[in-house]
This record gives sequence, structure tokens and C-alpha cells, in this order.
Amino acid sequence: MGSVPTSASHFAALPTAPRDEIFALLGEFRRDTHPQRVNLGAGVYCDNDGEPFPLDVVRTVEKSMNEKADPHRHDYTPIEGDQEFLALARKFVFGDACDESRLTSVQTVSGSGANHVGARFLANTIRPRRVWLSAPTWANHELIWATVGVPVHFYPYYNAETRALDFAAMVETLEKEAEANDVIVLHACAHNPTGLDPTKEQWIVLGELCQRKGIFPFFDNAYQGFASGDPSIDAWAIRHFAQLQPPIEMCVAQSFSKNLGLYGHRAGAFHVVATGEGCTPAAKDAVTANLAQIIRSEYSVSPRYGSDIVKAVLGNKDLTRKWQAELHTMAGRIIAMRVCLYEELRRLGTPGSWTHIIDQIGMFSYTGLTPPEVTYLKEKFHIYIHSSGRISIAGLNTKNVKYVAAAIHAVRSDPSLVTSA
Ligand code: LMR
Repeated sequence: MGSVPTSASHFAALPTAPRDEIFALLGEFRRDTHPQRVNLGAGVYCDNDGEPFPLDVVRTVEKSMNEKADPHRHDYTPIEGDQEFLALARKFVFGDACDESRLTSVQTVSGSGANHVGARFLANTIRPRRVWLSAPTWANHELIWATVGVPVHFYPYYNAETRALDFAAMVETLEKEAEANDVIVLHACAHNPTGLDPTKEQWIVLGELCQRKGIFPFFDNAYQGFASGDPSIDAWAIRHFAQLQPPIEMCVAQSFSKNLGLYGHRAGAFHVVATGEGCTPAAKDAVTANLAQIIRSEYSVSPRYGSDIVKAVLGNKDLTRKWQAELHTMAGRIIAMRVCLYEELRRLGTPGSWTHIIDQIGMFSYTGLTPPEVTYLKEKFHIYIHSSGRISIAGLNTKNVKYVAAAIHAVRSDPSLVTSA
């Protein structure tokens, strides 16, 4: 006889799961009605009024899409994605650095989707013994790789004492412990959360290391154009790896959330660079087919509104030029805000060294603020910051930077708080 059904819920003893801190913080900020509240949590670009910044070029495209009202605009995309979008996205990442014959791409639910589909694909196919993530990294990397069942290891990256990249420790660990067929996740530019990128010389060392040891590079490319304002400069590392001789296999998760401000539309792609013996057109087709099977089982097809916008921008020279000018403006405002915050903290004589704020690059600064300081800033000043001390510089503007600096000064000067200064 089978067991007798009871009325107890299957979920009665379900342990809870940790909430994603970045999105939880965003929710808290949105519910806060304090007039001076400041959101330095999620990496979302805002203008100098703290408002969302729909790019002009995106508005132009949306207007013409609305006028055109193509009856096919709500159609499904193919499972692998819109081929025209993918060709343009590929070109944007790789430029002329990689022969098309080596590349396979699928459309994804932006960068997280690309990271996840890519992780699942590599877990199923090359079956790595471990994945190497930077310490620290974007929290979702760890979650994604744990979800696909690949043991996560960390390579040293950030040195809290010097507030700088510890490249020697990174290389030493990888030399000693990484093995052939391991995967290494690398942030293509604007490292999240530290804002510290390897130099070109250091990228060259990493490329040689991956090549010599047979480590599989997995680039996360979420900020192309945001670090320097120039998408080709920000793609340097990826293009260098793609041009290594003898060539290596690698992959890239690409997002258009930040650089085109398409956060909620989830436009992205996953690219595989295949090479070597047996890399026939049939093998490449098998890569696409396997990726398509993962996509089909998880969400069927990718959303198309954002990718239609990307396609319109990248497919038109004039719009691409306008976009690049806007990218320059966004990157420039972020760089200017770094300087403002730094200068204000210095002017106030805030305890601690703050030069790292101007030395770091991209959307984030890893400030060195401690968890108690972060809590204090939220509770007393309504300033929302990730508990790691990462601040999104894009949330600063000429109207709130003095307020934020004064709050940091107050927290650092409060003897009741243990600080890391
Ligand atoms: C961030 O790190 O704040 C962004 O990439 C948003 C996200 O998806 O976590």
C-alpha cells in the first residue's frame, strides 16, 4: 500500500534561499521615500539628476520601430537567435580579431543568461573539474556555476591592504593549482566589483598561461564601452586571446544591458571560439545544436525587443557613431564623478586613503567601506551600498556627491564603528 496522503505541504520544511543582495537593495531603495536617498547599489547608469538615462540613439530606434509597426515584430526568434543580431554582436566583440569560421553564437537572456547557458554547455561538454573565479567576483558567477554542478575555486585578485590587483598572487595560484580543461572566468573589462583590470602586459601573461596550461577562458563581457568609452579598447583582452598563436578555444558572454541601457530587455549573446583538430563545420553545428537544446529546455527563445534595437544601432553606421558618442558621455561622467568623490573626501580630510577611487575603472569602485559602515550609511543617510563596500559610481551626480562624501566622512569619523581605514 502506498503512503496515505496528508494535508502537510511539500514545502513546509523548505529551507529558505538567500535573496540576491543587489536586487534586494534596489527594492529597498525604491521603497525609501527620503528626499536625499542615494542608490549606489546596482550597476545602473543614471544621469546627473539621478534619473534613468534612455540613450538618444535607443529612443530614435524605438520611434522608428513604432512608426514602422512591422507585423512581425512580436514573432518568435529562432531558438539560436536572430542571425543578423548575432553577426553584429559578434563583430562588436571580436572586431577583425577572429575568423568567422571559428565562431559560433547564440542569442541569450542578456549577460546572466549567457553566463548560465555557457556554464551549462561547458559543464555538459568539456566537463571541467573546476571553474576558477576571481576573489571577489560578481555574486551571480558563483551561483551560476554551483547551479550547473562545477566545483568553484577562487583565484586571488584583490589585495585589501593595497586596494590593488594582486596579479602576482593570481598567477601563482593558477600556475600551481589550475589544470588543463579547467575553466577560468575573466571579466573582459571594468571588473565587477573591484573596478580593477589587468594591464595589457598582464593580459598577455594570462593569455600565455591559459594557452600553455590548456585552461579554458570564459570572458564575461558586460561593460564593453563603459570602462574607457571606447568599445574596441574595452575588447582588447578578448581580441588578444582570440588572436593567440597557436590558437586556443574560449568563449564570451555578452550583454547589452549597460552599454545600451537596455537593462530590462535582456539583450545578449554567447559566443564560442572553436579551433584545432576536428573543428569541422559539423562540429560547429553540434555546438550550436547543443546550445539550442539548453535554451529550448530553459526558456525556449530569447526576447527580441532589445535585440531588435541593438540590431538597428549596430547595423547603421550613423547610429553606431551616435551611440559611441553617448558611450563616451556616460564613461566620461563616471570618470568625472570618481574625481569629485575623491576630491571631496580629501577636502574633508576623511580618514583613510582614497586614491583607489580614481585608480579604478568602470561602473564600480570597491571603496573599502566595511559592512557596519555600509549599514550605518543606509540607516542614517539613506545611502544604499552593497555590503562588500562596492559603490556604483553611476549613482553619483553633482547634486549628491557632497552629501555622500560627508556621510562617508561621518561614518569614518565615528569611533563607535570599527573601520578598515
Ligand atoms: C550589478 O552587478 O549590479 C549588475 O550587474 C546587476 C546585476 O545583474 O547584478
